[in-house]
Amino acid sequence: MNLPLLLAAIVIAAVILLLFALAIVNFTIFLDGVPYVPSKKKIVYRVLKIINPKPNSLFMDLGCGDGYVVRYAAEKFKVNGLGIDLNPILIVWANLLSLFTGLRRQARFKTQNVFRADISRANYIFVYLTPQILEKLAEKFQTEGAPGALIISNSFVIKGMEKFLIQTIPIDKVKVFVYQL
Ligand SMILES: C[S@@+](CC[C@H](N)C(=O)[O-])C[C@H]1O[C@@H](n2cnc3c(N)ncnc32)[C@H](O)[C@@H]1O
Repeated sequence: MNLPLLLAAIVIAAVILLLFALAIVNFTIFLDGVPYVPSKKKIVYRVLKIINPKPNSLFMDLGCGDGYVVRYAAEKFKVNGLGIDLNPILIVWANLLSLFTGLRRQARFKTQNVFRADISRANYIFVYLTPQILEKLAEKFQTEGAPGALIISNSFVIKGMEKFLIQTIPIDKVKVFVYQL
């Protein structure tokens, strides 16, 4: 291959990679106004250690991003993990990571709007979403969620769920709010 052709190929590959990265982070902004910002790993480790999800329980992350929280819960606590996100690129990525880490069956992901998700069998529902979306989800949690299910909200209280709040977990400057239905 001659040099100009090689340079052109490198530039095209770099542009594709850049677009892919931008799409991963920002795609959802166009759909829903919520960017992909992963939960800090320290928060995930600490909260799941405290919650201690039961093996074989159904653990959902509504707005799962790359699916890290679900994979961690599946690997360490042997839950059945299900992540849902509006961003199909993140979902493809999350499923690939599950495949590569040997968690294909335990940590599954699908493209879906959280408002359409079937949460009726979930024992644990993790959310890291905006207060506005959480407030809208409050009714869904109360009408469709299983009695006894825990809802774990990273950083934001869920307006309308005050009477279900059972625990507030401070981690550095962040608080995680745990509700029980
Ligand atoms: C702040 S990130 C949290 C990612 C992951 N849960 C975590 O804690 O690391 C929020 C995610 O929610 C997704 N999202 C926002 N609104 C959504 C909706 N209505 N339905 C499904 N996913 C949504 C975004 O695409 C983004 O990946």
